[in-house]
Amino acid sequence: MPTLTVDLGNRSYPILLGTAMLAKPQNFLPYIGKGRPLIVTNDRVAPHYLETLRQAVADCHPASLVLPDGESHKTLQTAGLIYDALLEGRFGRDAVLIALGGGVIGDLTGFAAATYQRGIGFIQVPTTLLAQVDSSVGGKTGVNHPLGKNMIGAFHQPLAVIADIDVLGTLPKRELVAGLAEVIKYGLLGDAPFLDWIEHHIDALLALDSAALAEAIQRSCANKARIVGLDERESGPRALLNLGHTFAHAIEAGLGYGAWLHGEAVGAGMCMAADLSCRLGWLSAADRDRAIKLIERAGLPTRLPEQLKPTDFVRLMAHDKKVLAGQLRLVLLKAIGEAVVTRDFEPSKLDETIASYCAPPYAA
Ligand code: NAD
Ligand code: GLY
Repeated sequence: MPTLTVDLGNRSYPILLGTAMLAKPQNFLPYIGKGRPLIVTNDRVAPHYLETLRQAVADCHPASLVLPDGESHKTLQTAGLIYDALLEGRFGRDAVLIALGGGVIGDLTGFAAATYQRGIGFIQVPTTLLAQVDSSVGGKTGVNHPLGKNMIGAFHQPLAVIADIDVLGTLPKRELVAGLAEVIKYGLLGDAPFLDWIEHHIDALLALDSAALAEAIQRSCANKARIVGLDERESGPRALLNLGHTFAHAIEAGLGYGAWLHGEAVGAGMCMAADLSCRLGWLSAADRDRAIKLIERAGLPTRLPEQLKPTDFVRLMAHDKKVLAGQLRLVLLKAIGEAVVTRDFEPSKLDETIASYCAPPYAA
């Protein structure tokens, strides 16, 4: 399996992807160097993988910290538990945090690494599909605030991302499917050949076929690494990675966070983005239907729950971080594999999409 690089000058780092990765010391030791590792994980992941990783880095005498599982723990308070462990263990600036878990553990641990003693190194060991294809790559770290998700954070790139495909075997199916939304996203936003490939391999991906998963993760990470390399701090093309996300955030906030998984909301959100792109005359009806069909075949929602009302939806979308000077910016599709970030769309067409999706049955 080729190693990918996120090309960011002197902050460049590799993404190592393969099977049996967790057990191999040589995957970790070059990045730990002479540092002192603290493995941060949660009580769901630890019983499966903590011991294997501890053995792999045993020569570096790792400490470990097992946090409670769940998005509700992605808080400053939980970050405080990481600082406590570092301070009580007398870790200095040579500390290297190893984030073993999904996006919640990766974001929390990365945030602690960005802020402990003004910044220490960390390694991402993503264990969900979503984390392997998205959240572990690109250096966005952070925690939630009671008034908003991911509102406290920092850009802090890892020393390396080490992704082991085997760990997806214990992932609940619903989490796997949620991760597929982000895989499909890369095809839709900038890689039409990849979208073709996903259409041909969606059943293999759902069946956890290792070769198919490896290719999907590798091609997803290549897309993400390319875009992050162009625009680390999201002043330009990185915003394309938010295809479907403005709609998704409205769905998640409207239903109450946790009712739908983020990837599920992104699935329905990408359907809405394709629908609006079609209403604007940018995307053909055939391509809109093609996108929606693939999202449906992945097992993701393509409709909204009935309790979301159009007026609530519009209000919730206005809270998105991509609102600039009071104007909503959306990621929309000019074609399959060609997304744009734009505020240049007819608001009445957005209203039509929202009305259509908030009023089942779907009548496009
Ligand atoms: P998660 O971390 O909550 O993991 C989902 C569930 O699967 C959890 O219960 C977890 O403990 C469990 N789990 C993880 N790996 C497992 C395994 N191999 N076997 C069995 N169970 C396993 O959720 P997620 O979807 O990985 O990440 C979502 C988070 O990522 C959100 O907080 C979101 O804001 C963040 N995110 C960040 C970025 C970024 O760029 N930093 C991008 C996208 C999402
Ligand atoms: N998940 C979007 C980004 O990393 O920019």
